[in-house]
Amino acid sequence: MTRLTREDLEALPNYVPGRSPADLARELGIPEAIKLASNEVPYGPLPGVVEAVTEAATQSHRYPDMGVLELRAKFAEVYGVDPASVATGCGSVALAEHLVKATCLPGDEVLYSWRSFEAYPIIAATAGATSVKVPNTPDHGHDLDAMLKAITPKTRIVFVCNPNNPTGTFLRRAELTAFLDAAPKDVLIVLDEAYREFVTDPEVPDALEAFGDRPNVVVLRTLSKAWGLAGLRIGWLHGAPEVANAVRKCVTPFSTSAAAQAGALAALSAKDEMQRRVDLVVAERGRVTEGLRALGVDVPDSQANFVWLPLGDKSLAFAQACEQRGVIVRPFQGDGVRITIGTPAENDAMLKVAEAAL
Ligand SMILES: Cc1ncc(COP(=O)(O)O)c(C=O)c1O
Repeated sequence: MTRLTREDLEALPNYVPGRSPADLARELGIPEAIKLASNEVPYGPLPGVVEAVTEAATQSHRYPDMGVLELRAKFAEVYGVDPASVATGCGSVALAEHLVKATCLPGDEVLYSWRSFEAYPIIAATAGATSVKVPNTPDHGHDLDAMLKAITPKTRIVFVCNPNNPTGTFLRRAELTAFLDAAPKDVLIVLDEAYREFVTDPEVPDALEAFGDRPNVVVLRTLSKAWGLAGLRIGWLHGAPEVANAVRKCVTPFSTSAAAQAGALAALSAKDEMQRRVDLVVAERGRVTEGLRALGVDVPDSQANFVWLPLGDKSLAFAQACEQRGVIVRPFQGDGVRITIGTPAENDAMLKVAEAAL
């Protein structure tokens, strides 16, 4: 057949979502699997979200507010930032894509640590940019010195994932400040803080507060994780107004849906409940880490809502063994397994299954 699409996409891996309980019901006949594969918070939508989305649904025949004015003003209020510095998108993954579109021409370089968020290579490749992957340290974190050395005149954008998905590792204030001081000022540095709300180490900086005034820094946040809106698709970024404006030019028109805008406004009004749920997750993170270490796995400390099991080439077999026992985890072939922190009961079940699977 005549080729209709780009040949280079054949070499590109598809984004692999966490498998769902419906997959296990269909394939293995397991009726109610526990899903610990996609870094969601297990406690349902925050209070007020369902009502707000239901209300928004009555206007489904109308386009949403493309300027996202009310929600951007809400972000400004909650986070003490200028609405002109805020852009929203269909999940922060879409914003990462728009940032690459806004910075890179074909052949330009996108730099990131690896292993990190699996969307980065896909986003770079689909934009026609070149990925430069700097290997993680032996402790599974970013090697900021090596990343600095890897910056070339072609580098337009650097993604720094803190805490890092999927390893849960984190960068502290001093090392991040030194990195930002040393990085060229004409390269955009994106601090991807999808898991910021789960950070408890006071030395891990809130990038909005610590670096939000730097013109070449963009902070990427999502409402998919701690704020419980993964299904509605809403992320946001903070950057210099010119950068935010350039991103808004690249955004697919109307891609922050009316339901997402309404749900986000309601969620952001339920901050105390969000924090209560995050505290539960954080308490369980410590227990799960210790439980897995007791089974002999060298789990690094995590500041996110998941933990990393560096199981190397046993990763896939471990994940399959867990699935056969009704717990869905997320393997990264040849590298490790990421397990999301669930409810205490879900974590208990996972620890039992992990023991059997190991
Ligand atoms: C590091 C990181 N950044 C961004 C995202 C994107 O999240 P969303 O598109 O749901 O906002 C994720 C989701 O897993 C992530 O782990």
